[in-house]
Amino acid sequence: MKNVNFRKYALGGHTIYHGDALKVLPTLPDGTIDLIFADPPYNIGKHFAGFVDKWPSDRAYIEWCQQWLDLCTQKLSPTGTMYIMASTQSMPYIDLYLRDKVTILSRIVWHYDSSGVQAKKYFGSLYEPILHCVKDPRNYTFNAQQILIEAKTGAVRKLVDYRKDPPEPYHTRKVPGNVWYFPRVRYRMAEYEVHPSQKPESLLERIITASSNPGDLVLDPFAGTFTTCAVAKRLGRNSVGIEIQEEYVKIGLRRVGITTTYNGERLAPPSKNFGYRRAKPNPAQLELGV
Ligand SMILES: C[S@@+](CC[C@H](N)C(=O)[O-])C[C@H]1O[C@@H](n2cnc3c(N)ncnc32)[C@H](O)[C@@H]1O
Repeated sequence: MKNVNFRKYALGGHTIYHGDALKVLPTLPDGTIDLIFADPPYNIGKHFAGFVDKWPSDRAYIEWCQQWLDLCTQKLSPTGTMYIMASTQSMPYIDLYLRDKVTILSRIVWHYDSSGVQAKKYFGSLYEPILHCVKDPRNYTFNAQQILIEAKTGAVRKLVDYRKDPPEPYHTRKVPGNVWYFPRVRYRMAEYEVHPSQKPESLLERIITASSNPGDLVLDPFAGTFTTCAVAKRLGRNSVGIEIQEEYVKIGLRRVGITTTYNGERLAPPSKNFGYRRAKPNPAQLELGV
């Protein structure tokens, strides 16, 4: 029977659902998702196309979160991993709720800089928390060797550990700790889409590389601009993305490469205005062909 609650688009291992995550998630088979990245609305009053991200109370918001957290846990495979984002205010409730159901391996801080948000009378928030959870702490994917970063003590300061016999130089590469710096998506970046809380591809690259393998199934229940699904595709994973707003579903259909038109409309990346006119060609350069 055709489900009237949502629409589904699929191509080559990638599926996009246009609908409410609470309606779509129950239709997915239990225990089949290898990796979930959930970046829900934060209950802070942002405008997502027609949707305003504000619940009548904190309690109502947390109760809503509990519903999709339960569904995500149910859909996760026995060896699966979930990354959950939330506002700094709500994360303690989510953490307390989840720690009875899954194992929380890391409490990650995604830190970024901002010249736009500059609090003058308190310390402005320049991070977002992310929980890294697994169903089975004895059996889960973590591709440590594929996400190594530079270890400054060894690589930059070139320190030697004299406690070793003979003394050894410090390692130059290491597994990242739980404080991650990635710049937020800016207008001038190639990946920029028109959305108020698009997450950077670099953040998803680390998560997907670390916690899944090629061919695995990655789910994002609040897909927004479908960063998760686009990066999953680039890294050879399969993906499922759910998004309630049509404007963002159109971004997903284009970014994940499912279709180039939607109801006759050509799906194109945002056109950008950089505020300057193209410089007149320099005749000398034209002659040189540069
Ligand atoms: C924080 S944004 C996700 C941004 C995304 N991670 C990205 O990189 O673009 C949350 C998204 O959830 C969508 N949303 C809100 N309620 C939803 C629901 N019940 N089911 C599915 N999507 C929903 C919003 O329209 C919004 O695009």
